[in-house]
Amino acid sequence: MATGTFAQSIQSPNGRHTVAFQLTPAGEPTYQLTIDGKPVVKPGKLGLSIQNLPALTRDFKIEKTDTSTSSTVWKPAYGEVREIKDHHRELAVHLRHVSNVSLILRFRVFNDGLGFRYEIPAQPNLTYFIVTDEHTEFRLNGNHKAFWIPGDYDTNKYPYSTTLLSEVDALTVSNRHTEIGTRSPIGKNYVQTPLMMHSGDGLYINIHEAALVDYSAMQLQVDQQNFTLTSHLVPDAVGNKAYVRTPFKTPWRTILVSNKAVDLLNSKTILNLNEPSKITDTNWIKPQKFVGVWWEMHIGTATWDYAGTQDMYSPEILSNLKPTGKHGATTANTKRYIDFAARHGFDGVLIEGWNTGWEDWFGKWKEDVFDFVTPYPDFDVAELKRYAASKDVKLIMHHETSGSVTNYERRMQDAYRFMKENGYETVKTGYVGRIIPRGEHHDGQWMVNHYNRVAQALADQKIMLDAHEPVPPTGLHRTYPNWMASEAARGNEFNAWSVGNPPEHETILPFTRLLGGPMDYTPGIFEIKMSAYKPGTAFQVHTTLAKQLALYVTMYSPLQMVADLPENYESRPDAFQFIKDVPVDWDDSRVLAAEPGDYIITARKGKGENTWYVGAVTDEEKRAVPINFDFLNPRQDYLVTLYADALDAHWKDNPMNYTIQQFLVTHNSIVKVILAAGGGAALKIKPATEEEKKRVKRYRERR
Ligand code: NOJ
Repeated sequence: MATGTFAQSIQSPNGRHTVAFQLTPAGEPTYQLTIDGKPVVKPGKLGLSIQNLPALTRDFKIEKTDTSTSSTVWKPAYGEVREIKDHHRELAVHLRHVSNVSLILRFRVFNDGLGFRYEIPAQPNLTYFIVTDEHTEFRLNGNHKAFWIPGDYDTNKYPYSTTLLSEVDALTVSNRHTEIGTRSPIGKNYVQTPLMMHSGDGLYINIHEAALVDYSAMQLQVDQQNFTLTSHLVPDAVGNKAYVRTPFKTPWRTILVSNKAVDLLNSKTILNLNEPSKITDTNWIKPQKFVGVWWEMHIGTATWDYAGTQDMYSPEILSNLKPTGKHGATTANTKRYIDFAARHGFDGVLIEGWNTGWEDWFGKWKEDVFDFVTPYPDFDVAELKRYAASKDVKLIMHHETSGSVTNYERRMQDAYRFMKENGYETVKTGYVGRIIPRGEHHDGQWMVNHYNRVAQALADQKIMLDAHEPVPPTGLHRTYPNWMASEAARGNEFNAWSVGNPPEHETILPFTRLLGGPMDYTPGIFEIKMSAYKPGTAFQVHTTLAKQLALYVTMYSPLQMVADLPENYESRPDAFQFIKDVPVDWDDSRVLAAEPGDYIITARKGKGENTWYVGAVTDEEKRAVPINFDFLNPRQDYLVTLYADALDAHWKDNPMNYTIQQFLVTHNSIVKVILAAGGGAALKIKPATEEEKKRVKRYRERR
């Protein structure tokens, strides 16, 4: 057994990243990470605290180390690319603590970053234990610019703050956002992950986790003086962090790093650190575009509830209800959306507010609110099953739990049976409100296990899942491909009824929330100003109409909502065409240019198609962006349809003016596109026909 200082390092396959493990003379495990010889993370400590044991932070000895290299390729059930390469080097450090506990630290270095985790193997004197803390340090090499949201245990629906690490003030920011009903008080200077940073010397660094299973989410405590981040696990109702059994492994702690921002967006490291699919036959899992009885509730022209506020649980009350007159989920209104979906080729219709309980749904912390099987009297389940099938449209069921998860757990098997009987193959779950069991948090181990249990239970029934208000995703859509999307961030809905999301929001989300997995952001809002519905209101989507189109490309999701009202699309059929055309499953994706907080330009090739789509979005700055078409086939002429902001467009003053142009390009073309302040552009690029080659002009750059 080695004693005293011990060190060992491994490099990424491309040789740029080095992770060095070192055991100090006091037996403390430490690690550091460099890129091209520059420090990313300076030597930082690692360790766990386990109830009734001395802290596992020092007094370790090395038993052995193993290194290996792995290079494999796997095919996701759906995704941004057709196949994914997993090429990494691994170092496993086997340690023995003075208390006799054996612990393995496993490091994997990829060409764009590092993953590492703690493993406690099966051992005679430690079978079941309580984790009371994790002591992982990320000792950053400077006062980086950070894009962060406060370390709230119950919600991630915050806009991002951009400050230096020395200026992170989570408490003040959290207190400012009173529109988030489920906030939990924040005691210390915690931020959530994925945490995005940009260093003064040009490195893009992102810290997150992969494969969050049977453990609580990791937040980061920010030390403003030393720029050290320390793991903080979300506690349970009695303050513990996790209850586990050996053999045990924590989620991977991930550090993506590159001198190019696009490398982080193109990274597949978080997916590669997740376990392969638990579902062997994935043919029933279908990427979808869907519409829904949804936006009308957010803009306030319809209600989820049928009869205003009263206790809905007794059948006698139900039969005596006086309808609000604005109930959205009626049979007739749902048919209107089914017709709309059928007319334009969309796969599904989401219906919210179809079931009893909404009168009581949130704010009361009540346990028994929804039963997930009783429709309101004006929602005819059998008739809608028949009608949707006759139009070849799938219905998507909504299960708002209002945080009462004990109730959902008791009822979910019946609810899924009810779904299957009535033709629903996709569910959108929701966890608005404080969690029951009371004292548990959205991001604690109890809830993490719940979300994962739901994904598994739905997989057993062949049902697809879109989860709202869950823990931030960590790549589990590889393991449970039926868990196709989550919200888990501040979505477009906030623009309907609050100060909303600033124009930069969608240039940050791909660098933060989306690194963990697809997001149901609900893009596609065409009627930008809420004063169209409520005269006098200043609420609006902080965007131009063209940017809403671009989001279908820049914000990856295999479940994409076409979120606005049918009439707002059908009155603008030319712009709507892009939403009808854009795929939700891809053979290839490349982020062409990006800067967090400023702009993103992404190109994707439709699955099984020879057609590319490009989305470009900007923050509040107007900019001219060059789009380089060198990804196209050199032997082909292409027809571009460009959906751009009109020259006078502006997210605030003139958000709905757009232009549509067509021109021919080749792989040598560089097209300059003007993005309005808060604007964007969407491009469809398909092989040109002979007729188009004659009729349509070639692109020529105007100076
Ligand atoms: C918040 C969700 O994000 C939204 O999509 C849903 O409509 C409401 N909760 C009601 O469940």
